[in-house]
Amino acid sequence: MANYFPRWTNRLPLKVLVCLGVLGSALVAGVWYYFTPAYTRVGYEPVQPVPFSHEIHAAQLGMDCRYCHSFVEVAAHSNVPSTQTCMNCHSQVQKESPKLVAVRESWATGKPIEWLQIHKTPGFAYFNHSVHINRGVSCFSCHGQVNHMPVVFHAKPFSMSFCLDCHRNPETGLRPRADVFNLDWRPDDLNVPLFVAKYGKPPGMEQKDFASDAKLTQKEIGLTLARKLGVNAPVANCAGCHR
Ligand code: HEC
Ligand code: HEC
Ligand code: HEC
Ligand code: HEC
Ligand code: HEC
Repeated sequence: MANYFPRWTNRLPLKVLVCLGVLGSALVAGVWYYFTPAYTRVGYEPVQPVPFSHEIHAAQLGMDCRYCHSFVEVAAHSNVPSTQTCMNCHSQVQKESPKLVAVRESWATGKPIEWLQIHKTPGFAYFNHSVHINRGVSCFSCHGQVNHMPVVFHAKPFSMSFCLDCHRNPETGLRPRADVFNLDWRPDDLNVPLFVAKYGKPPGMEQKDFASDAKLTQKEIGLTLARKLGVNAPVANCAGCHR
């Protein structure tokens, strides 16, 4: 038999296979990365059965989140309010409004309004609202500026790396417990002398005197709180979130 092909071609099929394999996994990884819900969920804004506006109720009327989401600081799950909560006012206010037809129907029939759940973690990931709220993580960190949303949309990715980014550096998301429900809070709003009296001085600033016009950055505030409260959020401990 004549040698039609040089020797190196004997290994060609193997090389082709390896190349295809590498290309194939890159493609799978790419599709996984870009098309899994983590990367498409931001902006999800379903049409709800009632055109309920947080901008009107939370920002303009100044209602506290807990008036409606009453379990958020005491339970793992944050409830959406029942029709009764709406009727506390809407049996008097805007009684005839066509935008409230579904609320009145629900009230008359006793069938709950079918709100569509926007934020959802997969069943294999454990989440708990009250733990976060009571440590001083605001709704703002995970849901965005809901109080100014005429229609709620998914503002953050809720991927595993989103959770871990904060767990690794919790100082980026901590504020005094009293300001958790104030979604317009900014570090500049902090009363620094009161804060320092309650939680101590920021790490590395023990020598400094804090006058009434002093300002602290989010990082300084967060580091002070993390140390004072002994914050330790699961990162390497997979079972912390996958229980
Ligand atoms: C008057 C009652 C009321 C108040 C006050 C209120 N909410 Fe809501 N909230 C609702 C209702 C009803 C829904 C479901 C319909 C919708 O998505 O708009 C909802 C939905 C949400 C959702 C989306 C839930 C999901 O399905 O993922 C978030 C997040 C939320 N509210 C946060 C807040 C925050 C933060 C505050 C305080 C700044 C607040 N809400 C104040 C009634 C209220
Ligand atoms: C504390 C009282 C209060 C509660 C509780 C309340 N609302 Fe309202 N809501 C108001 C007021 C006041 C307005 C009117 C604001 C305006 O006219 O600018 C309003 C306006 C509305 C409108 C717009 C009506 C229109 O015709 O423009 C809708 C829709 C609505 N509310 C839905 C709800 C739903 C759903 C709930 C329960 C989850 C709820 N509200 C709970 C006080 C309340
Ligand atoms: C650390 C992140 C984080 C913070 C802080 C947070 N949430 Fe959530 N929220 C989530 C996650 C994750 C879900 C989805 C949970 C699930 O799948 O049950 C969610 C779901 C919700 C829902 C939908 C529940 C349902 O069954 O429809 C509401 C309402 C809500 N959050 C309100 C709030 C309010 C109000 C605050 C502030 C007081 C808040 N959240 C703070 C992460 C957070
Ligand atoms: C903005 C910061 C922040 C974000 C975002 C965040 N967390 Fe946390 N998480 C914390 C802090 C702070 C704690 C409290 C640690 C402690 O108790 O010392 C915590 C604690 C936890 C715990 C431990 C609860 C317990 O019962 O011990 C779980 C589980 C958890 N987070 C899951 C999640 C998941 C899932 C997400 C993403 C959907 C998430 N977290 C997003 C800051 C955050
Ligand atoms: C702070 C909470 C948290 C910790 C700690 C955590 N995970 Fe996750 N993990 C999540 C959440 C939330 C999701 C769902 C992400 C989504 O819906 O896109 C997830 C998803 C996953 C997935 C599915 C693939 C994906 O990326 O969506 C795997 C696999 C996984 N985690 C493995 C691990 C392993 C291994 C560890 C330990 C090294 C770990 N996780 C630690 C919160 C956590």
